Amino acid sequence: MKNQTNLVRVGLLGLGTVGTGVARILINKGAAIRRDTGLEFRLAGVCVRNPKKKRDISLKGVRISSRPAELVREKSIDQIVELIGGVEPAGALIASALRGGKDVVSANKALFAERGLPLYRLARQTGRHIGIEAAVCGGIPVIQGIQSGLASNRISRIVGILNGTCNYILSEMSRHAKPYPMALREAQAAGFAESDPTLDVNGTDTAHKLAILARLAFKSEIPYARIFREGIERVTSEDIRYAAELGYSVKLLAIGQREGNGALELRVHPALLEKRHLLANVSGVNNAVLVSGDETGDIMFYGRGAGQRPTASAVVSDMIAIAQARRHNVNNLDPIFSTAGVRPIQEIRSRYYLRFQVLDRPGVFGTLAQILGRHGISLSSVVQKETNRSPVSVIVLTHRTEESRVQKALTAIAAQSVVKEKPVRLRIVDPETP
Ligand code: NDP
Ligand code: HSE
Repeated sequence: MKNQTNLVRVGLLGLGTVGTGVARILINKGAAIRRDTGLEFRLAGVCVRNPKKKRDISLKGVRISSRPAELVREKSIDQIVELIGGVEPAGALIASALRGGKDVVSANKALFAERGLPLYRLARQTGRHIGIEAAVCGGIPVIQGIQSGLASNRISRIVGILNGTCNYILSEMSRHAKPYPMALREAQAAGFAESDPTLDVNGTDTAHKLAILARLAFKSEIPYARIFREGIERVTSEDIRYAAELGYSVKLLAIGQREGNGALELRVHPALLEKRHLLANVSGVNNAVLVSGDETGDIMFYGRGAGQRPTASAVVSDMIAIAQARRHNVNNLDPIFSTAGVRPIQEIRSRYYLRFQVLDRPGVFGTLAQILGRHGISLSSVVQKETNRSPVSVIVLTHRTEESRVQKALTAIAAQSVVKEKPVRLRIVDPETP
């Protein structure tokens, strides 16, 4: 710290869901933090978009402005806490803070997934710290867990439920047969969703978090744009119900695996999980990450993945950890890695849940089976849902096969006159082999 006392002067960018939570912890727990850590955090200034907006927190004596560029340049400030979100202007503000000799704490997964590398380089050059624990899985200390707790391991795989909003929606659709739009509205009202919830439901937020975790787990810079991404927008209550009848839950998963040759498999998509899978029982806003270390075997991190208090908890933990490092004159030595290759989705191998809406006519099963067989896809189960209406749902589960084969087979099946809707394809993730 620049000053001789243990005072840490903080510039807070953003006073929304998370920013308000951080300010509350600093106000309500300031004395306890001072007692436990010997650090006194003082809000030196707060920036918002609209200073006139009514807030549900009162910050007496704290300057609130809409000029973040000025706040990050203020010489007296030790830490900048960025909680405005989005790639810009957050990126430029953080860069300016680092150049000005300030440490940075942020919950901004979009920024650190898409443009993290230049900021990490800058932090190395300036010897400043960056803490982004809050960016992944809200209150769960998964970044610290991977970075420090599993430091002696070679990590081969991470599989996680990383988005609280999607997990909440899928759980509500499954447990209470709630319609998707209603569950999404509830997640927004609870403060779980991003300001643009499309980022949650289309898998972008999960891919951002996977990029951050994979960087730490596999010690590689991650080319974010190469992460395969599919969201939950097209997951229907019907498929959730059929999956449940077959013994599976539907979850939005992030999967990262390192292969023997160093190439990475990185993908985000809804998946069927056998109900005995540890992740199948993670519901509501909770997140969980299974990490496979060569020494530890599987470790699971679990807890609240979004919302004001868990996320603010992670932000303040980073603020404390960084202030303690400063107090001991520890400079940032975070490594800069080289970039790994990412295997295209067409090459992955998986089991699949397929649903076809077909006319209820003789020979239709044969047509489906023939096309799947022609593409080398072996079936493990076929079910036709009994109904007096046509078209009917035919559900097929496959053995492990290559994605490219499934894509080609589905294109051929969709072209058949007896097939009345675009076939549904969901991957099945087994406990041992995602
Ligand atoms: P909110 O939308 O609730 O709050 C954003 C805050 O930033 C608001 O106070 C807003 O001002 C302010 N702001 C926005 N743009 C600017 C700007 N250009 N200049 C100054 N202030 C600005 O977002 P959240 O608190 O939910 O999220 C903040 C960050 O935390 C995001 O990166 C998000 O991804 C991340 N995050 C959120 C979690 C959650 O559960 N909500 C969990 C984990 C991470 P005003 O109030 O005037 O509009
Ligand atoms: N919108 C995110 C989620 C916030 O729902 O998980 C936590 O990162």
